[in-house]
Amino acid sequence: MAEAMPLRRSLPTKPASHPLLLANIGQLLTLRGKAPRRVPEMKDPGLVEDAAVLSVDGKIAAAGKWKEVAKHPALKAQRKKLEEIDCRGKVVLPGFVDSHTHLVFAAPRLVDFEKRITGASYEEIAAAGGGIRSSVEGVRKANVKALAERALAALREMAAQGTTTVEAKSGYGLEAAAELKSLEAIAEAAKRWPGTMVPTLLGAHVVPREFLGKPEKYLREVTEKMIPQAAQRKLARFVDVYCDRGAFGLEDAVRLFEAATRHGLGVRAHVCQLTSTELWPLLRFQPASFDHLDHVVDEDIPQLARRGTVATLLPGANYFLGLEQYPPARKLIDAGVAVALATDYNPGTSPTPSMPFVLSLACTHMKMTPAEAIAAATINGACALGLGASKGSVEAGKDADLAVFEVEDYREVPYWFAAQRCQGVVMGGRYFPGGGR
Ligand code: NIG
Ligand code: FE
Repeated sequence: MAEAMPLRRSLPTKPASHPLLLANIGQLLTLRGKAPRRVPEMKDPGLVEDAAVLSVDGKIAAAGKWKEVAKHPALKAQRKKLEEIDCRGKVVLPGFVDSHTHLVFAAPRLVDFEKRITGASYEEIAAAGGGIRSSVEGVRKANVKALAERALAALREMAAQGTTTVEAKSGYGLEAAAELKSLEAIAEAAKRWPGTMVPTLLGAHVVPREFLGKPEKYLREVTEKMIPQAAQRKLARFVDVYCDRGAFGLEDAVRLFEAATRHGLGVRAHVCQLTSTELWPLLRFQPASFDHLDHVVDEDIPQLARRGTVATLLPGANYFLGLEQYPPARKLIDAGVAVALATDYNPGTSPTPSMPFVLSLACTHMKMTPAEAIAAATINGACALGLGASKGSVEAGKDADLAVFEVEDYREVPYWFAAQRCQGVVMGGRYFPGGGR
C-alpha cells in the first residue's frame, strides 16, 4: 500500500520554528536501516553512544555520534535560535508508534471489570449485555467536543509515556452518524495534539443491538454508508474489522475489504483473538496489519513472513483479561514475521495508555528481548500504519519525533514496569517535557 497520509498537525501544533539539539545523549537508539525489522535486524536497535540529534523545521537533520552531528552547517548558522536539551546519562529513541487504539469512547466499563474479577469471561459478559455493545449508548449520546476532549486527555497520557504517533479507531457508535462523529472527534483531537494521528473506521466492530439477527443488513450500513462517507470526507485512512466469534466472519471481512479498497482506503483486521481464523482469504488485500493473532494457525505463519503485512501483538488485552496465554511472539518473530506491539487502548480489554508497560509485558510474558520490543513499538508500528518512510527511526529526513527516557541503559525502558521514566517527547521538532500534559 502507498504511504498513508496521517492527519496533519495544525495550530497550536505547528512545526518548530527553531532548530532543536538533543545533546550529550548517553544511548541513542536509531533503529535505522531496513523497515520493517525482522530477525536478525530486530535484535539490533542501532545503538550509538555519545550521540546527538539535530532537528530543523520539524525533520531530523542529523543523528548519530556527536562528533559527526557537530559538523552540520545548521548548528553554526542557527546558533542563536538553537534550543538545546541536555540528555547526559539518558536514552533517546524514536517516539513510540501506538498502531492500535480504540481512542474514542465515553466511559470506562467498570461493571465488566468487576464481573470478570468474580469469574465471568469476556465473551460471557458480552453475551449478558456488557462488552462492546454497552459502550455504544454513551458514544451515541455524546457530542464531538466531549469525545474529542476525552481523546485528547488520553493522547496526553500516551505522550507522557513516550508515544508520538497514534492510530485511532472509531467502533463504539455502530451507526453511520455515530461512527462518523467518532471520526470527527479524532480529527478534532488531531488538530489540537502535536503528535501524529492515523484514523481508522471500525464500523464492523460488532453488530449493534437493533440489527441483531440481521448482520447482512448491518454490513450494508458499513459498506454502503460508513465507508463511502468516511472516504469521501477523508475522515479515515483505514478500515478495520473485528473478525472473530461473536463479531464478524471471514466472508464479511472480505466484503468489507472489497468496499474499503474500492474507496481507496487501506485495510487491517482484528483476527485470531479468541478463535483461529484462516488468514489467506484476506491476504490478497495486502492488509497493513493483522492484530492480536493469539490463535494464529501455524500454517499461516510462513505466508505472513513473506509479506509486508505486520503482525501487531496486543498483550495489554491478555493482561487485563487475566489470561494465562499471551500472543505467540517468539514463533512469529523466529519465523521472520514483522511484529509490532501496541496498547489496544480501549475500555473493555486494555485500558492502558502506556507503551512501556506493553513492552514490559512483551519481555516478561512473550519472551521478546528489550531490543525486539523496542523495534516492534517504533519502526514496525510505523510500518503497520504505512508510515515506515517518515516515522519510527532516527534518520536524517524523517520526522523529528523522539522520546527521552531517564534511564542509562535502553533495557531499563521495559525493566521498570508501571513506572514513569519518560522525561519528555519531541513531536514535529518541538520538545514537550512530560509529554505536554
Ligand atoms: O481489541 N476485540 C475487539 N475489540 C477490542 C475490545 C473492545 C472492547 O471490549 O471494548 C480489542 O480487544
Ligand atoms: Fe482492538
